[in-house]
Amino acid sequence: MRLPELNPPVRLLMGPGPSNPDPRVLRALTSPILGHLDPAFLALMNEVQDDLRQVFQTKNQHTLLLSATGTSGVETMMVNLLEPGDEVIICSSGFFGQRMIEQATRTGANVRAVEVPFGEVITGALVEEELKKKPAKVVGFVHAETSTGALQPAAEIAAVARQYGALVVMDCVTSLGGLPVKIDEWGIDAASSCSQKCLGSIPGMAPATFSPRAIEAIKNRKSKVPSLYWDLNMLFNYWDGARGFHHTMSSTLVYAVREALRIVLEEGLEARWERHAKASQAFEAGLKAMELSIFTKGPVLPVIKVVNIPEGVDDLPLRKRLLEMDVEIAGGFGPLAGKTWRIGIMGTNATAKSVIALLGALEQVLAEQGYYRERGAAVAAAAEVYKG
Ligand SMILES: Cc1ncc(COP(=O)(O)O)c(C=O)c1O
Repeated sequence: MRLPELNPPVRLLMGPGPSNPDPRVLRALTSPILGHLDPAFLALMNEVQDDLRQVFQTKNQHTLLLSATGTSGVETMMVNLLEPGDEVIICSSGFFGQRMIEQATRTGANVRAVEVPFGEVITGALVEEELKKKPAKVVGFVHAETSTGALQPAAEIAAVARQYGALVVMDCVTSLGGLPVKIDEWGIDAASSCSQKCLGSIPGMAPATFSPRAIEAIKNRKSKVPSLYWDLNMLFNYWDGARGFHHTMSSTLVYAVREALRIVLEEGLEARWERHAKASQAFEAGLKAMELSIFTKGPVLPVIKVVNIPEGVDDLPLRKRLLEMDVEIAGGFGPLAGKTWRIGIMGTNATAKSVIALLGALEQVLAEQGYYRERGAAVAAAAEVYKG
């Protein structure tokens, strides 16, 4: 029997990513395939590097796309910067901080965790306390903790880490393209992100950037990078050096990121951050109108809201109903499963249209479950933010 034609539903993607890609990104995906060593493709890689530097706000020569999702970025930073026995401090305030601890631990490094409860933020003072006990080669943290919705004080953590001579590693998977990420100004030595959230491309690529200090540390390793696929010496030989074969990079995925970056830079970073901030304000106004509260104790991210599920509301049936309306949000992670929703306002969806559609759908499904306040109030509150 032949399979039917592929016809996936067209969802409004308001979870923690992927967000809906811009139609221009989807058009770029249908461009002709190029070989990974074709001069036309190599030129395109250079263009992407230039645009990535602008988006990361860095002069780092060593800036590239990794051929996999956001997880690969953190993995690459860890396996290149750490060796067995190295001292490393990882800040954790949620699921992705814990994951970074796991990724660092697997290198054989001696991982010391600076942890706060889910929803709170790590301060520079906490990191300093740990560094005073014993120096560390690397301090790692998650800028935008997607599991709790908290914005970590990146500049503060980086300043303390540098003061004690550590390399600063940042996961900016959820923040890049949606709120300020200033690699050079903050003194970040290695940072990585993803393609499918605030940058507005599709899943499959991880933008990353490395300072001269980070590259020096990699050059001074005593042992080989244990992973051939994520070995930055080899990857930069392909991206920036002799252009030797490393892996068959997907030209299609690179086209998609190239178009997404073009859109980001056409809009302008400041304007894009403002658009996300406005959508966040509108969404929060809607939540307030529905008497829904945010879980996060620290500064709340504009691009992801972790919302407490009210008493008496059943998580899974509610999300199933939303999906029937082609609206996706996500459930909580780890200890927050069943207790919170993760709602993303990212990329093309940081708009009045998407926020109002989402709030309308939420009002409907909440009312269906008997959680009924003033129907229409959330949509009205969000619309008011966009008025005039
Ligand atoms: C903060 C953070 N780090 C890492 C990841 C992993 O990224 P990916 O799912 O693209 O591999 C995510 C995914 O949501 C994330 O939110």
